[in-house]
Amino acid sequence: MGRLARKLNQIEKDFYLSLGMVNDIARNFRAEMVAGQSGDSSLKMLHTFITPPTGQETGEFLAVDFGGTNVRIQLVELLGKGRYRIRKNHSVMLCDPAGSYDYTLECTSGEELFDFIVEQIVKLIDNKTHYFLGHTFSFPTKQIDPARAILINWTKEFKTAGTEGKEVTSLLENALKRKSIRNVQPLSIINDTTATLLTAAYGNDCANIGSICGTGHNTCYLEAAAGPVIINMESGNFNKFPLTTFDLVLNEASEQPNLQQLEKAVSGRYVGEIVRLIILDFVAEKMLFSRGINGIDEPFSIQAPEVSLMIRGNHKPDDLLDLAHWVGVKWCVKSPSADELIALRCIAQTVICRASRLIAATFLGVLQHIDPELKSRQVIGIDGSMFQNMPFFLQGILEIFSNIYEDKAANIVLKYIRDASGVGAAIAAARMKSLQVKG
Ligand code: GLC
Repeated sequence: MGRLARKLNQIEKDFYLSLGMVNDIARNFRAEMVAGQSGDSSLKMLHTFITPPTGQETGEFLAVDFGGTNVRIQLVELLGKGRYRIRKNHSVMLCDPAGSYDYTLECTSGEELFDFIVEQIVKLIDNKTHYFLGHTFSFPTKQIDPARAILINWTKEFKTAGTEGKEVTSLLENALKRKSIRNVQPLSIINDTTATLLTAAYGNDCANIGSICGTGHNTCYLEAAAGPVIINMESGNFNKFPLTTFDLVLNEASEQPNLQQLEKAVSGRYVGEIVRLIILDFVAEKMLFSRGINGIDEPFSIQAPEVSLMIRGNHKPDDLLDLAHWVGVKWCVKSPSADELIALRCIAQTVICRASRLIAATFLGVLQHIDPELKSRQVIGIDGSMFQNMPFFLQGILEIFSNIYEDKAANIVLKYIRDASGVGAAIAAARMKSLQVKG
């Protein structure tokens, strides 16, 4: 075996999670769920005050989806029993690709950020209609009630100043006031996992778990003992699993070292960076592209869609031509060899395989908590680009389920939930509106 193959083997070994290890991680996760109820845990287990939908929620709502560098404003019409229509949609980046503004940086304030969001709301509304607003705010928050929540800490490399510790609905209301908008009434604030679970459960009684596998990662579930009520676990912060040297390097250089360890291993924001660090190591040892490679030193210069391209190419899975072309354009590497391209593919697959197994382990932990014998059908609603687009991601999770549960694995359904953040925000607002009418 050559040096390159030996080193690849070593990387595969370092990242591999056997079934036994997955079971251990699931057990650790379950233990952290229990510990989180009294505080000392990597899982925050945040009470959301949100109960499952009845399917009877109807009407038109304004939804704000803020959870990544893209903010989306939508007008959502709920039609009952899982049916809905997105009537208007406006999406905008919080950080201008051309570089003229960036509201995620420390040099901007929460006020400026929310002023910008309200400017986007204004683009979608008229001044005659009264709008009930549901807000999906995808960061860890301490919920005061269904309408109000305090940002505990930023995640996903956000740094906007003066926002942590603040009550977010007031930030939005004050920005609406500054712009003299009086016909928009915020009614609810939820996490995107909660939005996913609400949307999944709107038309399906078996949906008890909601998860985001996208730029960030997190999972919520329906806790029967507490109500039932949705608990946002902030599972991206889970840390009871083995880390590789690459995880340690990434963690040290990150905005918040030692926080969000699971998210740093599995989510779209970070998988490209892990792949980059591994390639960098091969380059340093002259095992890849020793003829020269440009730009591999640049942090976060490999993004999740490029990891997916490394695995699958643009069109044909067995064809290395796409990858060769990409390597040429991206890093000015001339005539990469087939061995080098296969090595890249193998590195990307290794990182994604671990990510899907880690997530499967956390789902197992939740399933063991809510339905230890797996007696009922369990629908896990999932949104996010990793789940939707990353090759082998879904298969990786399903493989673990069928190994562990064998025939019973058919009871678990992983369902992609389209439009989760907007529709979930509308459902939460609809539930609050009906309470107001009754009250
Ligand atoms: C981060 C946030 C969490 C969110 C997840 C997915 O982990 O802390 O609240 O649900 O990203 O967007």
